[in-house]
Amino acid sequence: PFSTVPFARDPDFVDRPEIVAWVRDKCAGPGARAALVGLGGVGKSQIALQYAHSVRDASPQTFVFWVHASTRARFEEAYRDIADRLQLPGRSDPKANVLRLVSEWLREEANGRWVVVLDNVDDIETFHPSRKPQCNEAHADTQTPLATYLPQSRNGAILVTSRSKDAAVRLAGGYNRIKEVLAMDEDEGLQLLRNKLRDPPINESAVELLQALDYIPLAITQAAAYINRRARMTVAGYLIEFRRSNKKRESLLNWDAGELRRD
Ligand SMILES: Nc1ncnc2c1ncn2[C@@H]1O[C@H](COP(=O)(O)OP(=O)(O)OP(=O)(O)O)[C@@H](O)[C@H]1O
Ligand SMILES: [Mg+2]
Repeated sequence: PFSTVPFARDPDFVDRPEIVAWVRDKCAGPGARAALVGLGGVGKSQIALQYAHSVRDASPQTFVFWVHASTRARFEEAYRDIADRLQLPGRSDPKANVLRLVSEWLREEANGRWVVVLDNVDDIETFHPSRKPQCNEAHADTQTPLATYLPQSRNGAILVTSRSKDAAVRLAGGYNRIKEVLAMDEDEGLQLLRNKLRDPPINESAVELLQALDYIPLAITQAAAYINRRARMTVAGYLIEFRRSNKKRESLLNWDAGELRRD
């Protein structure tokens, strides 16, 4: 068994024990489904990543499949990759429906245990279209709702991350199977700053910064990377820039040093 998780364990990961325990609990039973919901950048995918690694550590006999699901194309790409890694017969046939090949493999209990992480499902329409697709043979494969390819199997658990509560509820199968991920609390935020900053601050400006950034881990990580990149930049200096204007704030929040472990 192998894993298709795209990133290694994050040495800077700040544990969020309550959410991690919730995921572990909800994903434990046979055929389990669960979803993390919350605003962009709040840390849903990082928690899923941490969970995926912990599954592999605890049980190397479990396959872990990471499926980036923001678009139909990304979902198909992930399934194709799984089909290749599993060397499913028939996958290279141009007429093969690779999505179906993989979902049949997932359904077959003899294949062993698996976990699928469905990351960044932000458009529920691709999974559960609100309008019935036209019954047109020629396009049958390209229009089939993606939910069709997520089999209910005693052997597998599915963890979803999504910004949309509706999508999360639909895919996980009920309100008691979703968990809202909120911004970090002060301790977690300070821990993240300490993990990320080259010269961690030892003054109250750190808390002020967290407040300015609404305790959003993505924003905190970006701020730290920005500060690290500039020779004499400090937390206090960053705050001054950040507060200079809306425009300045936007550009700081959109700044990306390519270190964000997001795809
Ligand atoms: N627990 C954490 N420990 C360390 N860093 C974190 C943690 N959570 C989030 N981050 C940082 O914040 C960034 C954004 O987190 P993540 O990608 O998980 O957000 P998300 O909720 O999945 O957002 P989106 O809805 O945009 O996909 C990560 O790239 C990482 O740098
Ligand atoms: Mg995400």
